[in-house]
Amino acid sequence: MINVLFVCLGNICRSPMAEGLFKKQVNEAGLGNQISCDSAGTASYHLGQQPDKRMVSTASEQGVKLNHKARQFSKADFNAFDYIVVMDESNYNNVMKLKPSKSKAKVIYMRSYDEYVLGVKEVPDPYYGSMEDFKTCYYILESCCRNFLKEIIETNCLKLETSKSM
Ligand code: 4NP
Repeated sequence: MINVLFVCLGNICRSPMAEGLFKKQVNEAGLGNQISCDSAGTASYHLGQQPDKRMVSTASEQGVKLNHKARQFSKADFNAFDYIVVMDESNYNNVMKLKPSKSKAKVIYMRSYDEYVLGVKEVPDPYYGSMEDFKTCYYILESCCRNFLKEIIETNCLKLETSKSM
């Protein structure tokens, strides 16, 4: 099993959206038995909460179901996950502060998989923004998750279900 963890600050907007989207793409590719994913936040403000209502409705408009209880990222996640995918530089710094020296988990920026905008590190935080910002966040994550999944399939030589293509 390949285990992927998406990380943002509060674990109620960007990372649960990435988790829901990625799960859908993985299942559509018939890879649900080979790739699993979860999400977490570096902060503890919203522990146990469901994703932000604005993100839930944005996701739902796009046919993505979000069902996650916010939890805080911890050092133990370095053992449980192969890929830790962060949304911005402060997530990256907070995650790296906890990284055990022997951990083989790859810590990567979600936005490094953006096929449209190169050289931008961050998935902008929509929390203090408008509904339009939530929609923009969805489109950024949709493209990044698709490209990230392609890379995982290639690097791990995973076999797609015969009728599926990426
Ligand atoms: P997220 O967004 O990191 O994408 O879940 C945020 C959620 C909550 C807060 C900030 C960002 N907050 O300050 O409570």
